[in-house]
Order: sequence, then C-alpha cells, then structure tokens
Amino acid sequence: MKMENDLSSVDPTAAFDESAAILKGEEGGAAGELMDRFQAVTSANEVRWEIRYRLIRRLGAGGQGVVFLADRRGAFGTTFRLALKFFRPDGYSSVTAYNSEMARLARVATTLARIQQDHLLDLYNVIELDGLHVLTMEWVDGYGLRELLKPRTLDLVRATMRPDRWDHVNDVVVTKSAEQLRLKPGVATAILRECLSGVAALHRTGIVHADLKPSNLMIKRTGNCKVIDFGSAFLVGQPAFRSTWTPRYAAVEVLEGAPHTPQADLASLGYMLFEMLSGQYPFVDLMGPDLIEAKRRLPQRLREFLPAEVARNERLLNLIRRLIAPNPADRFCSAEDADQSPEGAAAFERELVRANLSSDYANEIRLWLSEIEQERAE
Ligand SMILES: Nc1ncnc2c1ncn2[C@@H]1O[C@H](COP(=O)(O)OP(=O)(O)OP(=O)(O)O)[C@@H](O)[C@H]1O
Ligand SMILES: [Mg+2]
Repeated sequence: MKMENDLSSVDPTAAFDESAAILKGEEGGAAGELMDRFQAVTSANEVRWEIRYRLIRRLGAGGQGVVFLADRRGAFGTTFRLALKFFRPDGYSSVTAYNSEMARLARVATTLARIQQDHLLDLYNVIELDGLHVLTMEWVDGYGLRELLKPRTLDLVRATMRPDRWDHVNDVVVTKSAEQLRLKPGVATAILRECLSGVAALHRTGIVHADLKPSNLMIKRTGNCKVIDFGSAFLVGQPAFRSTWTPRYAAVEVLEGAPHTPQADLASLGYMLFEMLSGQYPFVDLMGPDLIEAKRRLPQRLREFLPAEVARNERLLNLIRRLIAPNPADRFCSAEDADQSPEGAAAFERELVRANLSSDYANEIRLWLSEIEQERAE
C-alpha cells in the first residue's frame, strides 16, 4: 500500500510543469510573463542587482579600518545583518600602493572564503566604492577577547549573581587578577583549542594570519570563538607590502626582523594563552631589544607570573612553553600538533576530565555572556 506522503512515484518535472501552468493561467497574462522571466533568469549564466546597506553602528576600529554593523536590504522590507570593513587609505604612499595591497588582501579573502571552518570568520565579498575598499563579512554577535578580559565585565554581573553562582563563575570560568580578568585553565584551553583548529585550517591552505591577538579573537554569544581580522594575513610566498603586526604578540624572530610563518602564529597564540591564564601582560612599556629579551626569558619565568593553580601544572606550563619557545624549532611543529600531540592542548583537557575537573566550557562561556548581556540591557 502506498502512503500518502510517499514521494517515490512523484515526477518532479510534472510538478514543475503543473505550477508553471497555474502561473501562466489559461490565457498567459501577467503571471505568464513572470514565468517567462523566471525561465530566462534561471537559464542565464549571470544575474545582477543593486545592493544597499544601512550602516547601523560602529563595531570597532583599528589600524587598518573601521568596521560597521550593517543591514543588507532585501525585498519585502527584509534586512539581513552583516559586517562591513572599510579599509583606510592613510598609511599608504600612493593610491597605487593602496590598490595593490587591497588586491593582495582580496586574493587572500577569496582563498579564505573557501575554507568554511567554524572558527574562522566567514568572508562574503570585496567591493570597491569610490576607490575605497570594503569587505563584506559575517557579523560576529559577541565580544572581542580584549574587551571580555576587562574587569568591568565581571563587576557588571557581581551584584545580581546568587552567591553560589558567583562562586561557580570564579571557580570555573573567570576571576579577577591584579590587572585584568584571568580565565580559568579549562576555559582558556577551550578557547585556545578553537583558535588552533581555525589556525590549522588557515595553515593547511597556505595562509599565515600574522596578527593573532586578543582583539582579533571574538567570543560569540554561543560560547564559541572566531578568529577575525585577516588584514595582515598573507598567502605563503606573497607577503604584505607593509607590516601591520602587533609587537606585543609577535614571536621573537619576527621582532628580530624575520618574516612571519605558521610557527610565528603559534607563538602569538602562546602569548594569548599566557595572558588569558595570568590576567596580565608581562611586557608593558617594553620595546625593541628590551621586549625581545623579556620574551626570550619568559619561558623560564612563567611561574612568577602565573597563578598557583597554573604554576603547579607541569602539563599546562609545558603547553605554554612549546608555543612561545624563542627558537621556532622548539615550538610545536604545527597548529594540529599543538592540539593533538601528547603534550598538546587536547591532552591537557583529557587530564581535566580524568581529574573530574572538566566542564562544558562553551556552555559556561555562553551563560556568562548572557549574564553580561542582561546587565547591559538594564
Ligand atoms: N565581523 C565582525 N563582527 C563583529 N565585530 C567585528 C567584526 N570585525 C571586526 N569587528 C570589531 O571591530 C574591531 C576592529 O576590526 P579589525 O580587527 O578587523 O580592524 P583592524 O583595523 O584590522 O584592527 P587592527 O588594529 O587589529 O589592525 C575588532 O577588534 C572587533 O571588535
Ligand atoms: Mg584587529
């Protein structure tokens, strides 16, 4: 017996023809013309239309540009939310220099757009508007890690939290340290692992990010992370015309003048991990040779800066050391290795599970962000 919803005997072409007949009507008419246009459009090789964006608010700005939250206008009064980055022309010696750097970034963007990795920002298009370059991209509904580590994000929720919830957040998610907030080891490692999986996909595709730092990492309201800002990224063999990296998070060899490499990206992630765990940046006010020297000595001085729960954990100390080692050859050999090798981040998470100290970290972060959000709304 055939069930009513059994579609096995349905001829899809027949269904199409039937709806076409309905649209065309007995004598053709307006719907008939529309059907002709439908046939023409769907059999063409190219379609085009004008797109309008409404700029809603500024999401942020940096050395390379300004980023806006925007609504892309659709039919029937609909809007679709995304982000637009307008690249600044200052800092380039000429319009030609700006255009060639923009063309290079556009090539990186097309390669990136094909990766489709969950922890990398999705890029949609590169547009030229009156000579200015604009990148259309996914809007990340969340917070930059830099923003999230500011003490006020915890102060904001303190008053409304029940004492047991407050204790839980401070035990498992985030707590105050001398300068800024520090993340608990499980949360910091979970964030690192998501970065590593994004960065591993970049490296496999032949792209070096070259500017990994807390303001280029966003934590979504879902609790998951996205690596953003590919303004310094380059395809191996096609480096940027000018360097736009950030000394604070740069590997020792980059500070000494060597080019950025996948290994240098690992060091930047290591400095980020160190900052998440310690709640401080140890190189304040240091520049040039002093900064290089301080970074060279950091692996031996980790215990001075890290809280006791981290300082007594050899596995975690070793994970940081293998990321920030001054000699690139002493670092993990790849982002995958930094995650998956016996000394990597995944092994540390397994240790937390064995010690019964693990938690669903993305969910913990999601809950904390929703608490911040509620307070901001009031
Ligand atoms: N797609 C996005 N969704 C949400 N916020 C974003 C997005 N892109 C950027 N932002 C916000 O805007 C800020 C600046 O963007 P971005 O880092 O791309 O600019 P930049 O000029 O390249 O910065 P930098 O100083 O790192 O070179 C980010 O730190 C982030 O807070
Ligand atoms: Mg940035």
